[in-house]
Parts: sequence; structure tokens; C-alpha cells
Amino acid sequence: MPVHLISHPVARALLTQLRDKQTPSPLFRQYAQRLSVLIATEAMRDLPTEVITVETPLGPAEGARIATDVVVVPVLRAGLGMLEAVLSVVPHARVGHIGLQRDEATAVASQYYAKFPVGLDASEVLLIDPMLATGGSAVASLELLASRGARRLRLLCIVAAPEGIAEVERHFPDVQVYTAAIDSHLNAQKFIVPGLGDFGDRLFGTV
Ligand code: PRP
Ligand code: URA
Repeated sequence: MPVHLISHPVARALLTQLRDKQTPSPLFRQYAQRLSVLIATEAMRDLPTEVITVETPLGPAEGARIATDVVVVPVLRAGLGMLEAVLSVVPHARVGHIGLQRDEATAVASQYYAKFPVGLDASEVLLIDPMLATGGSAVASLELLASRGARRLRLLCIVAAPEGIAEVERHFPDVQVYTAAIDSHLNAQKFIVPGLGDFGDRLFGTV
């Protein structure tokens, strides 16, 4: 399974700010958005394009536009921290939602919501969830999307644990993963080390 590491210096600087426990929610949201633009841009590098011609003030210019339907699916709630950024990169994308909650004791994710646009089989589907820890949430989301017809799937995250990458690879060897970091390991509570803590809590100030 290809894993794409977004290691641009700007991305590394933003990730460092996200990791810093002193970063308050308003700044955390801003940094998450900026970093997600970089991740989304890289994740769409190989999307098909078609040639179009526009008129500049000096005459015609040949250019390109994205020639495929794109569906973005944030995993609630932390995935919402990446959504506006991804939509700023592909404004014509349609949006689905998956609600998952990890049990704090077992770290097993259970689904509480799902709603998708029609025609997933003909779309590039970008699953967005900032934290890939055990991989349980990602695999559950990918299985749900596949069962609804999605065939071309990519996973965009901000921090991934080796355990989560291995779990996604075991179930979905063809899914490309884009991440700004591959961290050391999971702790006993299945949090990513060093990670950045609970992304959803830091994003929404529920700590
Ligand atoms: C977090 C995160 C992922 C999941 C990753 O969500 O956003 O969805 O944990 O963990 P996993 O790889 O072990 O499944 P959480 O369940 O804490 O919910 P939240 O987004 O509502 O905070
Ligand atoms: N979810 C988070 O928000 N952080 C982790 O480290 C693991 C799961």
C-alpha cells in the first residue's frame, strides 16, 4: 500500500504547532486547515485533468481543469477540522459524512451516522480523518464506503501510527494513504505517541 508522507518544510512547521500542547483551539483550527490544504493538494496530484481554454486580457490560454467527480468524506467529528481546507482545493467536490466514536476503554469505533452523495462508484473518494491510530475507524469507514459502491478511495490524515497503517494495508492494500507524519507507536490507551493528543477535543475545545 503506498503511503505518501507530506514532508514539506511548511507542513512540518505546521505539524509542530499542532503537536504543541500550548497551542489553543483557535490556533489549532487554523494550523489544521493550513496543513490540510498541503495534504489535500498532494493527495490530488494524479487526478485526471482535461484541457480547457480561457481568455486572458491578452488572448486565449490553454489550461486544465479536474475532470472527475470528487467526494470528500470527513469522519466525525475530528475530520471536520480538515473539511473546509479540502473543499478549498476542490470546490466542486460533494460531501458525505461518517460518524464514528471510539470507546474510551476498548478503542473500538462504533458508527452513529452515515450519509453519502449518490454515484460513489464513479467518484474519487477522499476519506479524511486526522488521526490514524489503531486503524479501526479507517477500516470501518473504508468498508462502509466500499459497501456503498466506492471503488477509488484515498485516505488523508495528519498523524498516522505504524499500527494503523498496517491495519489499513491488511484490509485495503490498494488504498493510498497521505499523511504529514508516521509516529512511533500507540500507548496502552491506543493514543499515538508522540502524536498531538485528542484531535477532536483540541479542535473543538472539549478538553
Ligand atoms: C479519533 C480520530 C479517529 C479515531 C482514530 O476519533 O478522529 O476517527 O479516533 O482512532 P483509531 O484509528 O484507533 O480508530 P474519536 O473516536 O476520538 O472521535 P471524535 O473525532 O469524535 O473525537
Ligand atoms: N484519536 C486521537 O484524537 N488521537 C490519538 O492519538 C488517537 C486517536
